[in-house]
Amino acid sequence: MVTEKFTVGITPDARLIREEVFMQEQGYKHEFDELDNSLWTLVLYLDGTPISTGRLKEIDPETYQIERIAVRKQFRGMKVGSYTVKYLCNKALSLGARKCILHAQADKVHFYETLGFKIRDGEIDFDEGNPHVWMYKVIVKSKRKFRVNY
Ligand SMILES: CC(C)(COP(=O)(O)OP(=O)(O)OC[C@H]1O[C@@H](n2cnc3c(N)ncnc32)[C@H](O)[C@@H]1OP(=O)(O)O)[C@@H](O)C(=O)NCCC(=O)NCCS
Repeated sequence: MVTEKFTVGITPDARLIREEVFMQEQGYKHEFDELDNSLWTLVLYLDGTPISTGRLKEIDPETYQIERIAVRKQFRGMKVGSYTVKYLCNKALSLGARKCILHAQADKVHFYETLGFKIRDGEIDFDEGNPHVWMYKVIVKSKRKFRVNY
């Protein structure tokens, strides 16, 4: 069974996943910041095992930014990432947002496009040397229930 933990501030499980995925797997050196103490943080669990995380930042009352989306390697390709992003978009909506934005790793654009995000202006910038592009989505209440294929 998939369950969610949505908290203000980072949890030990979110930290563990981000260390594993962004630092060990992708080589990021500066993964954590002071915002981690105050931003909304999601962790998904499969039968009690932490499988993915993401965090949500208010930019302005109508715009929320989705950040640090990470699925542990052994749980990829099962729509866990999709579930994680959709959950955060729905939370943003319930907090009053009309739009979600994100700074996507350039090779992950297709993943976000499958969720309805669009490239903003195509300009590429770099985060610790990795190319990123800005994407956005106008959000509306999703009627479809989330499902993970496992
Ligand atoms: C990117 C990531 C979050 C995708 O999570 P996931 O659970 O494997 O993705 P899903 O199963 O929900 O995939 C949904 C669709 O996105 C696409 N997709 C998935 N991973 C992708 C990737 N790495 N690159 C491009 N497209 C991808 C697939 O087309 C998939 O549709 P399909 O089922 O028709 O093949 C996951 O691979 C991950 O955590 N990667 C490492 C961390 C990272 O790079 N995070 C993103 C930072 S911007």
